[in-house]
Amino acid sequence: MLKVMDEHVLVNVDYKSYQPKVSKINEMIEKNEGAGNDFTGWVKYPETFDKVEFENIKKYAKVVRDNYEVLVVCGIGGSYLGARAALEALQGLKRNDKLEIIFLGQTFSSDYVYDILSYLENKNFAINVISKSGTTTETAIAFRLVKELLERKVGKVKAQKAIFATTDPAKGALRELSTKEGYVIFNLPGNIGGRYSVFTAVGLFPLACAGVNIDNLMKGALDAQKACKNPLIEENPAYKYAVLRDYFYNHKKGVEMFVSYEPKLTQLGEWFKQLFGESEGKDGKGLLPDSATFSTDLHSLGQYVQDGTKQLFETILYVKHPNNKVVIPHDDANLDGLNYLENKDLEFVNEKAFLGTLEAHTKTGNVPNIIIEVEKLDEYNLGFLFYFFMKTCAMSAYLLEVNPFNQPGVEIYKKNMFHLLGKKGY
Ligand code: PA5
Repeated sequence: MLKVMDEHVLVNVDYKSYQPKVSKINEMIEKNEGAGNDFTGWVKYPETFDKVEFENIKKYAKVVRDNYEVLVVCGIGGSYLGARAALEALQGLKRNDKLEIIFLGQTFSSDYVYDILSYLENKNFAINVISKSGTTTETAIAFRLVKELLERKVGKVKAQKAIFATTDPAKGALRELSTKEGYVIFNLPGNIGGRYSVFTAVGLFPLACAGVNIDNLMKGALDAQKACKNPLIEENPAYKYAVLRDYFYNHKKGVEMFVSYEPKLTQLGEWFKQLFGESEGKDGKGLLPDSATFSTDLHSLGQYVQDGTKQLFETILYVKHPNNKVVIPHDDANLDGLNYLENKDLEFVNEKAFLGTLEAHTKTGNVPNIIIEVEKLDEYNLGFLFYFFMKTCAMSAYLLEVNPFNQPGVEIYKKNMFHLLGKKGY
């Protein structure tokens, strides 16, 4: 269980005045009666997920681990950010596993794609292509390229066994192609949208391939599901956080800066920005989700937070206990003057940086800080966190009176791009 702490938000938020509205929205979510209710399959998913497919995910993940050096994960947006965020959060930035994971399909950059294709020339690799619609251009182009490389290297028959598709259970171009080619197919349930899909095969298959314990991830999600359906704001961490966000939105704050003190949580910041940005930023409304990693960014954005325009509040995800200890050694010469820290571990220094910054930003800078505290980063706690953020997001968006589950604004750039590319019908 995590804690949402409001001791440093610099105001007394009147939760009681929010309670009737929150209770009503909670009931609406539980009864599946809100806007976009055909995309709420994720709400009860930690309980209702397909156990047969779950075992299949583990079975084929073992096949990938036992037979390949690299897994290329092709997807964009909700079809990639959750797996990437989880992978880094759990295994760090320099993972040293027998199976390498490479993300492709999230960019049109020829340099990025070229570098990866060149690297794969001499690797024994499998592919997991992930797209609900099956028509996302970034993913489709990358898949065409990497599939062509694989077939050229190992032949069509071996390639077919090395390609795993995750897509809509009933429709779409990827479904059709994968069925025709005989790939193993995992389902992204029709009632779950991309950015709410991390607990489906979209997130679970790449993570299981990477050796992540997906049973524990789902246990964390299930406990979060139970904790985050309580209508009482002060007993439900997701609703408490949603109310605080709504309060700041209605009190002249335009930006939420999501901060952690762990570089391996930087990608979780990217996932967070997509979840909240795509869910809330519509009808001329919504907080702009931003993210930063401290203390790194205290040497860049820190100046702005402390002293700049008072348009933001910070949400700090604070991990109490790192998984590893690094102790600062004694040095006889002490030319760097650091002996006052000898035998202290970096956890101690990081904590003091957090506490010092908290005081500077809140007391001097007048920037409200919400603190989300987790004991440690493991599969269970990450599962809890993902679900907690998704439930917060649904409540926040409904408080704003927008549909959390669509993204109509994203289509406009696509139409222009297709027109410029000369696609038929645009
Ligand atoms: O949250 C969403 O629905 C989007 O970000 C999608 O995940 C993203 O656009 C990719 O779509 P698809 O899985 O259809 O390729």
